Amino acid sequence: MIKKCLFPVAGYGTRFLPATKSMPKEMLPVVNKPLVQYGVEEAIEAGMNTISFVTGRGKRAITDHFDISYELEHQIAGTGKEAYLDSIRDVLDEGVFTMVRQREMKGLGHAILTGEPLIGNEPFGVVLSDDLCFNEDGDGVLRQMTALYKQFRCSIVAIQEVPPEETHKYGVIAGVALKDGLYRVDDMVEKPKPEDAPSNLAIIGRYILTPDIFDILRATPPGKNGEVQITDALLQQAKTGCVMAYKFKGRRFDCGSVPGFVEATNYVYENIYSEPS
Ligand code: G1P
Repeated sequence: MIKKCLFPVAGYGTRFLPATKSMPKEMLPVVNKPLVQYGVEEAIEAGMNTISFVTGRGKRAITDHFDISYELEHQIAGTGKEAYLDSIRDVLDEGVFTMVRQREMKGLGHAILTGEPLIGNEPFGVVLSDDLCFNEDGDGVLRQMTALYKQFRCSIVAIQEVPPEETHKYGVIAGVALKDGLYRVDDMVEKPKPEDAPSNLAIIGRYILTPDIFDILRATPPGKNGEVQITDALLQQAKTGCVMAYKFKGRRFDCGSVPGFVEATNYVYENIYSEPS
């Protein structure tokens, strides 16, 4: 039902400098796979086969990754090394990749609005690939969210409980609990201090958005840090319509920070990775 997924990938990876000086942060490998490929695989698992990148200068390696590398394919054809390409070949077989360039960094809301020509008038997913999510016991986070979308037909954000001292890193929601782990949102604040946070339920980088969000974003003035915030647009949508927040099943690693990235690497090596054979 939801066929497209937007990946805002234009941001700088300043926390990983100098590694990200000439390489996109989304291409940093978690063991043997670039961070962004995990997000793309999660989207495809949820049936979102059109993957739309909002990209920018210095990010060509991402779109090259989701294309054939002709020389490489030619060199290793018929050798045992082909198995190392299996996961990306599967992604290329199933996905269609589109991209638009964001010329200026004006916030996540602006990045999502920049993706409008790739999405059009239909509901879509958004993945922030810094948030790496796994659910080894069942459906991935986006797939869990698309099942909810079928029921509620409105925008949905994924949430997780965080310690109060970390609310300043996230959009934080408040809402009415409809059932275990599912809230109808009535407030949302971008990166509040603990004393201003409406709860400890933080938004993580998985969204299902209905396309009316684009008109709302166009009318949303810059907010926190002078940037157009998707959180502000979603609050508007919650006030005039409906936004749900969903405590997803699974684990999430903050790969936008060095400690989270190292934790994710250890987790993947121990629980997910297997040597191609
Ligand atoms: C963005 C959003 C924030 C959300 C977070 C999830 O912030 O603005 O609301 O909680 O992603 O990772 P960023 O981490 O890009 O500063």
